[in-house]
Amino acid sequence: MSRLTLPPNAPFSGAQKMWLKGFLDGVSSVIVPASGGSSTQSTAPTGLPVTILWGSQTGNSQGLGKKLSKSLAAKGHSPTLRDMAEVSPADLTNAENVLIITSTYGDGEPPDNAAALHAALHADDAPLLETVNFAVLALGDSNYAEFCKCGRDFHNRLTALGAKPLIPIIEVDVDYDEPFANWTKQLEQVLVA
Ligand SMILES: Cc1cc2nc3c(=O)[nH]c(=O)nc-3n(C[C@H](O)[C@H](O)[C@H](O)COP(=O)(O)O)c2cc1C
Repeated sequence: MSRLTLPPNAPFSGAQKMWLKGFLDGVSSVIVPASGGSSTQSTAPTGLPVTILWGSQTGNSQGLGKKLSKSLAAKGHSPTLRDMAEVSPADLTNAENVLIITSTYGDGEPPDNAAALHAALHADDAPLLETVNFAVLALGDSNYAEFCKCGRDFHNRLTALGAKPLIPIIEVDVDYDEPFANWTKQLEQVLVA
């Protein structure tokens, strides 16, 4: 939209014209994009579709998934929070942004609800995920030899299938609140429409 102006023959006194010009300049500065774009761009929605997958044995990753979903929704995005047990590799081929929060159990194993997806993604017939952007938050405990292995498996396998990491994987120990908050902040910075 072009700048709003008064026609030269507008039936106003000089003082009225001065006031109206100031008013219209103010309105124009709000509705005219500052740097060249069209006005439709300036009003486009900023939200992105985001799929959050949680793999969790005792609820920690699930709880963080819920928190992340709330934070991203508050930023105007459209998060969908999903139990990994209900997701197949084929579902991921259409997901634009996939955020994985998973713990590691047993001796470097996935938690129960993540086992099927973990196996299916590692199968020879797993689909390419070249249009997917992703990030992984791996929960673990550094007392275990296979620290955060499940999260690392997901990160490496998605990369091998062509998906693009939005940010590097974060592997976190039992005090995960602060690293989780930092991970969320980093994601909010890179998830821009
Ligand atoms: C029986 C058991 C086995 C575990 N094995 C591992 C492991 O191999 N590697 C690791 O990094 N953490 C391991 N952990 C730690 C969990 O990953 C960690 O406590 C995590 O925060 C649990 O998150 P969740 O409640 O989402 O499953 C293990 C914990 C338990 C109780």
